[in-house]
Amino acid sequence: PVDETLVRLLPKAEVHVHLEGCFDLADLLELAKAAGVGLPGPAATLFDVDTHDVPAEAPGAPKSTLSAFLRFLDWEGGLVRTPEQAARAAYRFAARESASGVRYADVIVNPTHWGAWHGRLGELFAAFAAGLDEAEQDGLAVVNLCASLLRQQTPAAAAELVDWLVEARPVRVVALSIDGDERAAGRTGPRFADAFRRAADAGIRRTVHAGESSGPQGVWDALDLLRAERIDHGVRAAEDPALLRRLVDERVPLGVCPRSNLALGLYPDRASHPLPALLAAGVAVTVNTDDPAAMGYRLEAEWAACADAYGWGLAEVAELARASVRASFAPPELAASLL
Ligand code: HPA
Ligand code: ZN
Repeated sequence: PVDETLVRLLPKAEVHVHLEGCFDLADLLELAKAAGVGLPGPAATLFDVDTHDVPAEAPGAPKSTLSAFLRFLDWEGGLVRTPEQAARAAYRFAARESASGVRYADVIVNPTHWGAWHGRLGELFAAFAAGLDEAEQDGLAVVNLCASLLRQQTPAAAAELVDWLVEARPVRVVALSIDGDERAAGRTGPRFADAFRRAADAGIRRTVHAGESSGPQGVWDALDLLRAERIDHGVRAAEDPALLRRLVDERVPLGVCPRSNLALGLYPDRASHPLPALLAAGVAVTVNTDDPAAMGYRLEAEWAACADAYGWGLAEVAELARASVRASFAPPELAASLL
């Protein structure tokens, strides 16, 4: 049987994980103390996405566990106030990935969650890059950054982020990304088409959250309007056979995060999750953690749980490891060395 130790030993990549979701309790206690703020709830329930104490939903807004969770990420990110803290968060992320046997990661950072840094993106990302450089020198995982928009943002805010990416070419930032709650924001593909087109034209890679809080339409928009090279989640593509064919034909990988989907109530259990159906359709599926510290689990546990639920053996998890590397934005030489 496939256990966590075996999974840890496989050279692999992680392609759908948010830096904001990777603070463990000890990190948060340290940051909260330094910021002089208390925890928003008892430590025992801090990471429980249904019970943590965050500001109430706006009146009339659709109720969403994801929206509440995203506000928790705002609280976490808001604790990081100094370049040293930002660098340390990035370093610890690389260490955390390495402990799971991840050799390369594309990590998503959404500046809207980092409230202390508005207007100082260059400083924030330079601090992350410094932490990641140090991690790499120490032999830890190689990590690149995906700068992410939030679905609720305006076209002007998106243009501002892309202007910065294109003009400043911040080190280690390889991709433009978009995340957030499409159930709360509605269909926003058209709103961001311009930003993603400009990023594509400038040679910046693209990865798009879709088919989680949106249905298949969100994934079509990601491909047609946002020129997505990879879809984060994408699981609801399983509801649309024509879309599945498109993903297979164009070899667009999905960064699936089953445990996150369960935590946020998208599917009641692993048996009803479409991951096996996506694999059977021939889609390039990867298995990732999304927000592992905030949701309280690790990548090797997730792969082992999938192996257990879906009857995978060594051959299947080894193929999953190769798929993760192929789906990543790793530099070609590094990718080749991991395959
Ligand atoms: N969906 C959308 N936005 C997010 C997620 C997610 O699962 N995690 C962090 N930001
Ligand atoms: Zn995500």
